[in-house]
Amino acid sequence: MPAQINPSILSADFARLADEAEAVRGADWLHVDVMDNHFVPNLTLGVPVVESLARATDTPLDCHLMIEAPDRWAPQYVEAGAGSVTFHAEAAAAPVRLAREIRAKGARASMALKPATPIEPYEDLLPELDMLLIMTVEPGFGGQAFLDIMLPKIRRTRELIKKHGLELWLQVDGGVSASTIERCADAGADVFVAGSAVYGASDPAEAVRALRTQADA
Ligand code: DX5
Ligand code: ZN
Repeated sequence: MPAQINPSILSADFARLADEAEAVRGADWLHVDVMDNHFVPNLTLGVPVVESLARATDTPLDCHLMIEAPDRWAPQYVEAGAGSVTFHAEAAAAPVRLAREIRAKGARASMALKPATPIEPYEDLLPELDMLLIMTVEPGFGGQAFLDIMLPKIRRTRELIKKHGLELWLQVDGGVSASTIERCADAGADVFVAGSAVYGASDPAEAVRALRTQADA
């Protein structure tokens, strides 16, 4: 699969979200960071904003839920129009049941791991997922430095995906930029979230294309 680049609107202007979505036309997905000030020490947006954004753009929404009680909330993001919903392994009470519910409602089901959460305990769950997200910063804020120490986990996850012959996408999120994306791609990632590297660029759409070219090289 060619590399997918998902700009994170966390680094966009929240008062102009429809325009900011348009500014990255050509991106594969728009990455929407939902934070509840409990699971992470930051607060962003919720279901009503996702509902409006889904109406305002043709680019599918990749909702990353950094919230407690995702078992209760994730299905509502599918109903709001998200094409992919990611819950955190550390927060889900019943990840298999939740992934099945997300899929049954018609979205791609995805699970995220914070930097200190290993992949190995989740090996048997991988067939239930459409994507696995490996955080390459501590979740909560854009613009943080990429954690190189996550590269072995990306590699081990790619091995597990191969071993089980799965179609699972492997996403990385946090500090992904022109100077780190090649290392992520080499380690086996194929979906790349980039916030500050895209919205901090003078031409965000061009930044998306450049990142994709680098990741595919
Ligand atoms: C951080 C969020 C990321 C964030 C990435 O917790 O999950 O999606 O927007 O921002 P950058 O690309 O600037 O590290
Ligand atoms: Zn994110």
